[in-house]
Amino acid sequence: MTQQPQAKYRKDYKAPDFTITHIDLDFDLQASMSRVIAKSRVTQQVTGADSMFLDGDALSLQRVEVNGQPWPHYEETSEGLHLSQLPSEFDLEIETHIDAAANTLLEGLYLSDGAYCTQCEAEGFRRITYYLDRPDVLAKFTTKITADKAAFPFLLSNGNNVGAGELSDGRHWVQWDDPYAKPSYLFALVAGDFDLLSDKFKTRSGRDVALEIFVDKGNLNRAEHAMTSLKNSMKWDEDRFDLEYDLDIYMIVAVDFFNMGAMENKGLNVFNSKYVLANSDTATDTDYLGIEAVIGHEYFHNWTGNRVTCRDWFQLSLKEGLTVFRDQEFSSDLGSRAVNRINNVRIVRGPQFAEDRSPMAHPIRPEKVIEMNNFYTLTVYEKGSEVIRMMHTLLGEENFQRGMKLYFERHDGTAATCEDFVKAMEDASDADLAQFRLWYSQSGTPELTVTSDFDDKANTLSLTVKQYTPSTADQKEKLPLLIPFDIELYAANGDVIELQRNGVAVDNVLRVTEAEQTFVFDNVEENPVISMLREFSAPVTLNYEYSDEDLAFLMVHARNEFARWDAGQMLLAKHIKANVARVQAGETIIFPEEVVDAFRGVLLSEELDVALIAEVMTLPSENEIGGWFDVVDVDAIHQVRDAIKLSLSTALADELSALYHSLNQRTYTITHESIGKRSLRNVCLGYLALGEQGNALVSAHFETANNMTDTAAALAAATHAELTNRDAVMAAFSDKWQHDGLVMDKWFLLQGCNPSVGALDNVKAQMSHPAFSLKNPNRTRSLIGVFCNNNPVHFHEKDGAGYKFLSDILIQLNESNPQVASRLIDPLLKFKRFDSDRQSLMRAQLERLALLDNLAKDLYEKINKALEV
Ligand code: TRP
Ligand code: ZN
Repeated sequence: MTQQPQAKYRKDYKAPDFTITHIDLDFDLQASMSRVIAKSRVTQQVTGADSMFLDGDALSLQRVEVNGQPWPHYEETSEGLHLSQLPSEFDLEIETHIDAAANTLLEGLYLSDGAYCTQCEAEGFRRITYYLDRPDVLAKFTTKITADKAAFPFLLSNGNNVGAGELSDGRHWVQWDDPYAKPSYLFALVAGDFDLLSDKFKTRSGRDVALEIFVDKGNLNRAEHAMTSLKNSMKWDEDRFDLEYDLDIYMIVAVDFFNMGAMENKGLNVFNSKYVLANSDTATDTDYLGIEAVIGHEYFHNWTGNRVTCRDWFQLSLKEGLTVFRDQEFSSDLGSRAVNRINNVRIVRGPQFAEDRSPMAHPIRPEKVIEMNNFYTLTVYEKGSEVIRMMHTLLGEENFQRGMKLYFERHDGTAATCEDFVKAMEDASDADLAQFRLWYSQSGTPELTVTSDFDDKANTLSLTVKQYTPSTADQKEKLPLLIPFDIELYAANGDVIELQRNGVAVDNVLRVTEAEQTFVFDNVEENPVISMLREFSAPVTLNYEYSDEDLAFLMVHARNEFARWDAGQMLLAKHIKANVARVQAGETIIFPEEVVDAFRGVLLSEELDVALIAEVMTLPSENEIGGWFDVVDVDAIHQVRDAIKLSLSTALADELSALYHSLNQRTYTITHESIGKRSLRNVCLGYLALGEQGNALVSAHFETANNMTDTAAALAAATHAELTNRDAVMAAFSDKWQHDGLVMDKWFLLQGCNPSVGALDNVKAQMSHPAFSLKNPNRTRSLIGVFCNNNPVHFHEKDGAGYKFLSDILIQLNESNPQVASRLIDPLLKFKRFDSDRQSLMRAQLERLALLDNLAKDLYEKINKALEV
């Protein structure tokens, strides 16, 4: 590291001295290099300013002109171009050369399987030309692309296609014009040869929008579901948010090499092919739902992100938290609200809470950033969405939508802040969000500790709620937050006891605002069972001494499905925790009959939705369990979780088997009902695989599967139950699919999380599988990311081999793709959560990485934080 990377602080935000109102880009794409001519209209914003700094990275500068004259007053630095002696308004012309073929970072202009594509968020546009590469500079873009016609028949960019032509040398060009001013991170260009799926959507006001999905040749039969999802998204945003699409064309391009899920470039989304391509042979139900969610997410960004963008990158949650909230609501309105909520809550309680306890802890609106790519996090996205959801809970749908209206009235066409959003919500309703704003600046996971006291003389119930937020790596002092705390009371016969204060009904959502606070309810005639934190009304942990009986009661009687699932999870949590302590004390594992019976009741329930039963029967992951302890004992956790799974499997064998057989569906459809049935049937399979008939059952499941969901479930069951037929089914799958990386990701993932002895050696061996490549982020995450994140017993093996393996990989990725490296490193950063032997082995690997002389900013920021705290 020649120069220490510098941090930027939110408090230092300053509007730019100059802005760019128009930019005309001219791309000439050639194999050896691409030529980019950028003509910008620049205007002074601060009187007297006569110099400006343009961001640039990995560019070869050819010329600089101001108002048509060569401009000698510039200086190139490692970070960009400093221009001086500038007039107050001028035309700037810059020519750069870039080498897309040499770009392995997948940021800026790069090649994915021979097609040119771009990724500019957050700061990738500076790898295309020198520019004010910041989200508060909004310009109208026109783009001309010239390339060889045979190799690149499609030349795409943002906005409308306004011209095209042929050149004599076999090259052709297309001219694009985007009428909406946008920041540079929303620019996109794609040039390649694709199969095209076309459709159209009539907006509510009657305009026709052309819909185009571009996929690799031969994949047309996998694009239909993405198209349906897109049309559903457009319709839903009109119906629920009153928002209509604003261009005449919407294009989506699927690429195999992509660092993240997808990107919302104006009118030209670029997607990881994982979130576009699906058919029944290749995609699981989870894939189908993931595609719907991500297509929705990127589409919803058109208003929350593009029409109103972010003033600076510290405000990222303004667009991401809000857009995640919108995509969650979309999936919930179209599918099962309870199942969606459960899966979202699992992510917050598992990996997001873990992030709060890591060296990278940050508020949803970070204060200090070295590499922006490091802040596309679970905290900004998922907790950010929870913060929006809490406002929705506090205000109600009607006021919330009024707030959205006001937000667009005030900020459409501009770059806004999180504060602007909260203010609009506040002004449109009668809510006071003064204290609530702390959720934007305070990091960490608040803990709620609740005690209850029933007075059978006065017929009152007192709930005392204490809130406490443990300090985090980034922030010592914490203040009490406004926490919406949703509760309901039940009588022993299951009836709801209305919440009353002084005889008047009160809202189920309590406003917790103090460090300690008591809520008293009257006219409570019997000691009630209390359902708490319903719908996970705030991203907090809950401590309350529930008895097993109360939890079993809530599993049956709670009125809402989420609460019933959550009661089951709390019951499991109690017994998992107790047993981990027993294992650590050398005692045997105990799992009471009554607890098993509570789950038997769920399996036998006729009224519960099958998809919900599947969720209730799914144990928390080893990682989520690890989060319940100060020192994570991976071996004890694994042992206890396995033992409980086996107990349930043995005790409930008859019920599981009956369900398994009754849920068999002859024909394959992807309605929510049939997805729910498959989901429960495959959960049953996972349990039954542990029984005597495991091999036979899983083999038969594999042989008879007529869709990828069932096929993948057979592989997963064989893997997790460590069946003897595992190698055979895995080999059969690989023989059939090794030509298809996307499908093979399911297989690599199962190699990654294989619980068997020798898992690490096997992972290393699979890196030479013909379908594997460290250059492809999806492959890398499936095999290596899953091993390091989701195979705690083997990653944390006491000899430290897992840690060394990860850092060997990181040394390679540090150069070829630091963004992927930086996501992979997370499990190593959390070394403080483990015993001292493991801690020192992990720390040693971080210290080894810290010494790299070309350490990327991404890794530098994380390693430094981890080693300094
Ligand atoms: N804005 C994208 C989304 O959430 C995120 C994204 C896609 C991204 N590609 C990226 C962020 C590359 C950083 C770098 O929809
Ligand atoms: Zn997003």
